[in-house]
Amino acid sequence: MQITVIGTGFVGVVTAAVFASYDNKVIGLDIDEKKISKLKKNLVPFYEPGLEKLLKQQQKSGNLEFTTAYQKGIENSDLVILAVGTPSNPEGGADLTYLLSATKELAPYLKSEAIVAVKSTVPPGTLPKVDKIISQTANVKYYLAAMPEFLKEGSAVEDTIHPDRVVIGARENVVFDRLRELHRPLKCQVIEVSPESAQMAKYAANAYLATRITFINQIADLCEKNGADVEEVIAAISHDRRIGKHYWYPGVGYGGSCFPKDVKELAYYSRQVGEGENLFNKISDLNEERIPRLMKNFGDQLGGWSGKTVAVLGLAFKPHTDDMREAPSLKVIPYLLDQQAKVRGYDPKALSAAKQIFPSDENLSFHDSIDDACQSVDVVLALIEWPEIVDYDYSHVIDQKKEQWLIDARNQLLASQVKGWGFNYIGIGRGEIDEQ
Ligand SMILES: NC(=O)c1ccc[n+]([C@@H]2O[C@H](COP(=O)([O-])OP(=O)(O)OC[C@H]3O[C@@H](n4cnc5c(N)ncnc54)[C@H](O)[C@@H]3O)[C@@H](O)[C@H]2O)c1
Repeated sequence: MQITVIGTGFVGVVTAAVFASYDNKVIGLDIDEKKISKLKKNLVPFYEPGLEKLLKQQQKSGNLEFTTAYQKGIENSDLVILAVGTPSNPEGGADLTYLLSATKELAPYLKSEAIVAVKSTVPPGTLPKVDKIISQTANVKYYLAAMPEFLKEGSAVEDTIHPDRVVIGARENVVFDRLRELHRPLKCQVIEVSPESAQMAKYAANAYLATRITFINQIADLCEKNGADVEEVIAAISHDRRIGKHYWYPGVGYGGSCFPKDVKELAYYSRQVGEGENLFNKISDLNEERIPRLMKNFGDQLGGWSGKTVAVLGLAFKPHTDDMREAPSLKVIPYLLDQQAKVRGYDPKALSAAKQIFPSDENLSFHDSIDDACQSVDVVLALIEWPEIVDYDYSHVIDQKKEQWLIDARNQLLASQVKGWGFNYIGIGRGEIDEQ
């Protein structure tokens, strides 16, 4: 199939490269000339495991190319996939500016019988807007589909090759037939539904996962009041098969390019359709409040942040990415600086992104090893569970002359080991910590 992917961000590049690897002819199209010229040279503008290699293979094979030219990109395409960004607008709704502008640009060049599939995360009611724009310009028969994306940054290539499921929202059988055939080599479950159900499924999935994180954080807060250990509580509840062992992450709350915005967008959508304030507003508010609340709580436990030197380990929003969108570090570091602490930041991949984001400050420095970041610190704040941060032997950074704390913001370290090294241990929702 001849495919064009519009928007070569995280989702677009991975989608384009994976479809190319299944012997489709794929064009990645973006208005960002710098990004396209890098991609042409096989340079991925962000860190995503396995992507650079795949890109190289597919450009070399001739199945994948990149362009900024709409006519060239669209005129021969059987399938046009819209994967542009849909950030939240100031009211919390999905900002469709990029999507609708890309739609306007593609419309004049559409080939007869082409499918335009929206992969960007958008609310129900978006396809009629796309349809209105295309119908004003295109003189050919075309089809629309909603094809939401469920990949996770950090495992995006693997998730796209082996998805849990593919969801196709359409109205015509011919669209289901062609998109089912496209996904056949992935050997996964293909769920065929209406466009509205496909779009709601995307929001429902992310809102559910965000709810699960927020739920266990609330339980963790209660454990701190009574000496219970949230990890023991999780072990106990997860034996219930209705609940399960997976996806329990007590910590500093959810971040990243999707959960915060998707929950806010669902909350906004609820208000727009007359459902008023509901669970999604509350989840979003609880998550927003979490980091300042926790930081104050940690500060109280270690006698105040003022004058302390703190190693902040993990600057990206999660392991295996350099994406800093809604990363906890974006709230944690300004909080610490505001409290007159000195901050020494480290991340395996996001250092250069962080250096661009944070304004220079005499109390903020970045370091390219854990060892260096932790030199003479009062507090080690293990913020993101990169394997190198979780597995590090922190006995190296113990300074016998001072009292030191290790804050395990993701409950990933062994408290007894941390204490054995000589730190005071602070975890999340851990009352009596006495593991073997
Ligand atoms: N990042 C994720 O993990 C993820 C996962 C699932 C779904 N999504 C959704 O997928 C969509 C894309 O997300 P992303 O993270 O890849 O975004 P991104 O911001 O990384 O990339 C978007 C790209 O679209 C390009 N673009 C903007 N306007 C354009 C236009 N008119 N023509 C061509 N290109 C244009 C931008 O230059 C940019 O390269 C969003 O709706 C997002 O919510 C993202």
